[in-house]
Amino acid sequence: MEAVLGRRSRPRLTEPAPDDAELLDLVGAALTAPDHARLAPWRLVTLRGEDREALGARFAASTGGDRAARDRAAGKPLRAPLLVTVVFCPKDHAKVPEWEQLASAAAAVHTLLLLLHGNGWGAIWRTGHLTEDRAVRRLLGVEDGERLLGWLYVGTPAGTVPPRPNAAPGPRVRPFRHLRTEDAPTKETHA
Ligand SMILES: Cc1cc2nc3c(=O)[nH]c(=O)nc-3n(C[C@H](O)[C@H](O)[C@H](O)COP(=O)(O)O)c2cc1C
Repeated sequence: MEAVLGRRSRPRLTEPAPDDAELLDLVGAALTAPDHARLAPWRLVTLRGEDREALGARFAASTGGDRAARDRAAGKPLRAPLLVTVVFCPKDHAKVPEWEQLASAAAAVHTLLLLLHGNGWGAIWRTGHLTEDRAVRRLLGVEDGERLLGWLYVGTPAGTVPPRPNAAPGPRVRPFRHLRTEDAPTKETHA
């Protein structure tokens, strides 16, 4: 419960970030997320140090605009010491449609966010229009048929964030017996 209720997205992140060995451990654990037919239809591309600057330069070139806009874009990947690019790689499968595979990928990403939090790291999932940019995709090696799902910005949390207000689950959950009985299938139609 603590990992789920205590996790918050952390927009302000500093050094250090988990090293490759720790990240690999966590990613291995995230592979336990629900995944129909165990297709694991996702892969991750990590960027640290100067790699983030290369991505920032690409962001700037793809964003265009005036100098200030390009500088802002260039600085985006520098907001955390580690960027984990999430790439969705749907597979052709007779029983598992693409939407289920996207659900698996999102479940794995959330599991990874929980595991990072559990190990004391901060993270935030960010996307934006540059996930659709061809040059950004090319730089990161995203193939045709794959989809760039954004980046997990990861590092040591800085500053504070308020706890997330408790959501009221009530209206989202209804026992079946509360449904209107006249809409339930009859014996004849349910044959
Ligand atoms: C697929 C996806 C993409 C997101 N993209 C962004 C983004 O580009 N920028 C941003 O500030 N938050 C983005 N968010 C929201 C944050 O990751 C975060 O969930 C939100 O700020 C709520 O914070 P919390 O996780 O602490 O509740 C995205 C969330 C998801 C699931």
